[in-house]
Amino acid sequence: MVGFQLLWNGIEAKTARVVVIGLGYVGLPVAARFAQAGFQVTGLDVDEAKVATIGAGGCPIEGEEPGLAELVAQVVATGRLHATTDYAVCDEADVILIAVETPIDSVHQPRYKALRAALRELEPHLKAGTMVIVESTIAPGTMAKLVRPTLQAHGRRQAGRDFYLVHCPERVMPGALLAKLTHMSRVVGGHTPDAARLARVFYGHVVEADLDLTDCVTAELVKTAENSFRDVQIAFANELALICEQVGADVWQVRDLVNKSPGRDVLSPGAGVGGHCIPKDPWLLAYGASDMITAKLIPAAREINDYMPLHVAELTVDALKEVGVEIEDARVAVLGYAYLENSDDTRNAPSITLINRLEELGAEVRVHDPYVAGYQGALAERVRGCDAVVLMVKHDRYRHIDLGQLREWLTSPGSRDERRQGTQPVLVDGRHVFDRDRVGASGFVFRGVGIG
Ligand SMILES: NC(=O)c1ccc[n+]([C@@H]2O[C@H](COP(=O)([O-])OP(=O)(O)OC[C@H]3O[C@@H](n4cnc5c(N)ncnc54)[C@H](O)[C@@H]3O)[C@@H](O)[C@H]2O)c1
Repeated sequence: MVGFQLLWNGIEAKTARVVVIGLGYVGLPVAARFAQAGFQVTGLDVDEAKVATIGAGGCPIEGEEPGLAELVAQVVATGRLHATTDYAVCDEADVILIAVETPIDSVHQPRYKALRAALRELEPHLKAGTMVIVESTIAPGTMAKLVRPTLQAHGRRQAGRDFYLVHCPERVMPGALLAKLTHMSRVVGGHTPDAARLARVFYGHVVEADLDLTDCVTAELVKTAENSFRDVQIAFANELALICEQVGADVWQVRDLVNKSPGRDVLSPGAGVGGHCIPKDPWLLAYGASDMITAKLIPAAREINDYMPLHVAELTVDALKEVGVEIEDARVAVLGYAYLENSDDTRNAPSITLINRLEELGAEVRVHDPYVAGYQGALAERVRGCDAVVLMVKHDRYRHIDLGQLREWLTSPGSRDERRQGTQPVLVDGRHVFDRDRVGASGFVFRGVGIG
């Protein structure tokens, strides 16, 4: 293919012009890191507000994200990173990364609205000799069935002849985006071996870990399989927790002892699994071959994990009943709205399911989260006068709550209705933050996931 050496040299010398399509949790840190490494980078997004924020050196991602805001400010100030909504920037790009969202719909199927739109917009701007890298997570077969055909749709360009095509899925995680980007190994799936080799040189500028070369479908499988594996393992821990509750055992003790057995590593059970990736990547894996094989284990694990916030609602109802409060009459404070500790990311957050369920049952729900807009503010104000507090996210703010103080906020005279005076408050722990005995000694009626 023409242009191999030219592109190779440009990448090595960092003179290759880079465009990153999609400036979210993945695309923004990726764009900033390549800019920091010395490339001229343009970030491209359809979200005008996001583009304006980044263009002014701001960081639209809230929560604890070490180094990201400073890095974005720095690379924008030095002119290495620009942001735009205009696909015309792709006319001159040598390397184009795509990091748009790839959610599933209500029947667990990928529709790829954002990915299709990005590819269609990009196609007329794709110059010969460019490398296109899809970083988004996609179902096995998507590079061959959707990405390549869309970029070749009008016969202008053909992968392997006119442009290089690569799938290099991301392994970052909110809370450590830059660190993971730098230190996690990557799977580099090339449509051709040359494409994979070029991508390895490119990523070598920012990734300080293995860059494993393979083909596109293997890369698709590896990414969706690693998250499916985790989901299945979490589901096992959750199912074990549900069994422990029923037989009157403590799952944390059981887990510790099981893990003493060689080769066993039971994960932590909890109030559910959220985020953009783990709840949908297993469905992407299952979808990849759904016309030939019906997955059984993957959907079962999804069902267990989806049930956990509903189970927390059941624990809350049960504990309230114990103190003589009916759920339709209760005021419940939910602590944590993000899906992950110390993050502002609320996508597929288990708290959303819990809150909906409690409201469906007639409870008045108040939500607190130090990182999520709309739920910030004084914790004392949010929990004052509530019958129950349900901890859903292990934010640092909640790890060291003084239980005596919490009880005081809940029960102090004037904070509760007359009819509740003397009623014990309820504490439900979805994340194993509190010690059952300590909570009991503080005057709460306690329920915890996995604690019978
Ligand atoms: N969030 C994570 O921790 C993580 C980790 C690994 C992999 N991934 C994968 O990376 C991909 C991106 O995830 P994310 O969390 O960054 O998503 P995100 O929603 O935070 O960001 C996606 C961005 O793409 C933009 N966008 C949508 N359509 C566009 C278009 N047609 N043109 C230009 N921009 C467009 C959106 O406005 C948004 O800013 C997904 O496939 C996800 O599964 C995410």
